[in-house]
Amino acid sequence: MKNGLEDVIAAETQLSDVDGEAGRLVIRGVSLDELVSTATHERTAALLLDGLTERHFGPAELGPWLGETRERLFAHLATLDSVVLGLPPVDAMRALIARLPDGDDFEAALRLLAAPAIFLPAMVRLQAGKKPVMPDGSLSQAADILRMLTGELPSTEQTAALDAYLVTISDHGLNASTFAARVIASTGAGLTSSVLAAISALKGPLHGGAPGPVLDMLEAIGTAANAREWLSQALDRGDRLMGFGHRIYRVRDPRADALKQALRPLISAAQVDRERIVLAEAVEHAALAILRERKPNRPLDVNVEFYTALLLDALGFPRESFTGVFAIGRTVGWIAHAREQALEGRLIRPRSVYVGPLPQAA
Ligand code: ACO
Repeated sequence: MKNGLEDVIAAETQLSDVDGEAGRLVIRGVSLDELVSTATHERTAALLLDGLTERHFGPAELGPWLGETRERLFAHLATLDSVVLGLPPVDAMRALIARLPDGDDFEAALRLLAAPAIFLPAMVRLQAGKKPVMPDGSLSQAADILRMLTGELPSTEQTAALDAYLVTISDHGLNASTFAARVIASTGAGLTSSVLAAISALKGPLHGGAPGPVLDMLEAIGTAANAREWLSQALDRGDRLMGFGHRIYRVRDPRADALKQALRPLISAAQVDRERIVLAEAVEHAALAILRERKPNRPLDVNVEFYTALLLDALGFPRESFTGVFAIGRTVGWIAHAREQALEGRLIRPRSVYVGPLPQAA
């Protein structure tokens, strides 16, 4: 028995490979570096889903189909009630997705790729007292998400930065949410059920919920000079430093560098708070030094969530919506894994060891 199923191999996949020792991520035969410098969200979706549904397609076809689907699904916002409106954005998005029909065909996959891209920006706007912005199916998904969020056409740099984020987080081996998606798919349930389970796995701060707390941490630290003392006190209290550490990576998470790189054009175009970036780098250096001193036997490095926080904040997403943006990008990975598991056709059903009391004689 291994607590947390650490190092247990529970699936064969052609979708992604995480090499935790070398700090490498490969997505369907393409290294993350190459993918993030050449691909859009649509291209990555086409790469991951190819051959896993009944329809064959490329990125050129997927873009317009996704656009049409966004326009069609916008009407679902009419089903919003005050209960859903009062939920945190990711929970509201989950509630709206739960109202979509289940299914395991290409149409179901398309709906699930388009739905969170509309629902999240709409929820953010509604909760800020603004009207949702209708989708524009002629735009790429990344550009349209930003337009639906702010009401304005994004700059090329902003669209590229969101594309880089969505590509970077599209798939990552058998993480908690993907495993949840595969378990549900193995029962023969449809893609909507799998995606709902996966979104639910993002609720905790240990997987997917860390970028908001990263920003809280940076704000609490305030200045570079304060970093070391603040971080030491946090560790003295037994807190974990958000944005650091990973179950698989024993070196730097390659996605952190991809996102740091994606921030550069925004910095050059003065579309990001430069001081915050300087502070973040100082905090990163201080945290790595302290973690090395305090946990010499456990290599702890920066993970994807640290620069996610800075990137999404720079693009205008409020921090309570960060987990929802992660879900928009990761949905393609969840769908691909759910389909891969369904095609394998074997129910996931491990065993447990009973350590409770033995039955008493009457
Ligand atoms: N800060 C301080 N100490 C840490 C951290 C951290 N961020 N991460 C791990 N450690 C320490 C633990 O306290 C433990 O120390 P101990 O052996 O002295 O008790 C040791 O490192 C090993 O910790 P585990 O819990 O075994 O590591 P695990 O592989 O389960 O944790 C995890 C991975 C959950 C990501 C962890 O590093 C963490 O909590 N990080 C902070 C939250 C975070 O950034 N989450 C986002 C992850 S990326 C993603 O989900 C997309």
